[in-house]
Amino acid sequence: MSSPSVCPPALTAVERIAAIRAIVAAARDRGERVGLVPTMGALHAGHLSLMQAARNECDFVVATIFVNPKQFGPQEDFRKYPRDLATDLRLCAEAGVDAVFHPPTEEVYPPGFTSFVEMGGLSEVLEGRFRPGHFRGVATVVLKLFQMVPADCAYFGQKDYQQQAIIRRMCGDLNVPIEIRVCPTIREPDGLALSSRNVFLNEAERKAALSLSRALHLARQKISEGATDLHVVRDEMRQLLNSTPTVHADYATLVDPDTLEEIATVLPRQVAVVAARVGVTRLIDNLIIEK
Ligand code: PAF
Repeated sequence: MSSPSVCPPALTAVERIAAIRAIVAAARDRGERVGLVPTMGALHAGHLSLMQAARNECDFVVATIFVNPKQFGPQEDFRKYPRDLATDLRLCAEAGVDAVFHPPTEEVYPPGFTSFVEMGGLSEVLEGRFRPGHFRGVATVVLKLFQMVPADCAYFGQKDYQQQAIIRRMCGDLNVPIEIRVCPTIREPDGLALSSRNVFLNEAERKAALSLSRALHLARQKISEGATDLHVVRDEMRQLLNSTPTVHADYATLVDPDTLEEIATVLPRQVAVVAARVGVTRLIDNLIIEK
């Protein structure tokens, strides 16, 4: 089913699995390379950069817009997550997306749905400790989207570092025939990583939110100055966050880029990761640091 009232003329937008499958099958029959950009809508320049990368590397670009209830905990912001389909469709059209799949919840999770992807390992650390069940929901919906939209390539942001690691692991473990591309985090000029949740920040919180990227840069600076004991660096990152009014760090640490395990000493390559509540808005960010 297309959405004639909100869908810009150059874009096909469909809500049904059968419709998007037919569209993708036709593109593949034409010999086109299909790129997929899964999103939850509330699109910003970060999403548009994924669409741009897909546009550059693929012949046919599909974006999905689905706020996945299974990846939100009971106390999380599923209900108030920003939604604006008309604007999102216009942005997709402007970004050169060919087709948008925006299914209703019951199309993705029909009555009686009971099957989930359980990841273990990578999904249990960092975000997994603070958002139990989150990655079970993410992995499940992403695998389902890969089945519904059989693309050659799918695009994710480095901003969600753990998410992309989990999706890559899932595709390897379950032999999912899709190439995962990870694109750089897009930031505001002052360093704040773009996130659909930034709209919830008031002026003071918006300033306070800069403490996340500052904590990451502090880690990079300390390592480049020769720090070797990462426990000390971690404490300094945490202190920077928690000394900022309205900011409460959930974690601020350095991890192995592949296993996501906390590291005690500097590696040739590590990831600084932070998660903090700024007022009531929870934000995450990360920075790859090479020695
Ligand atoms: O990163 C997101 O927007 C979501 O977690 C994703 C990958 C679209 C799954 O719902």
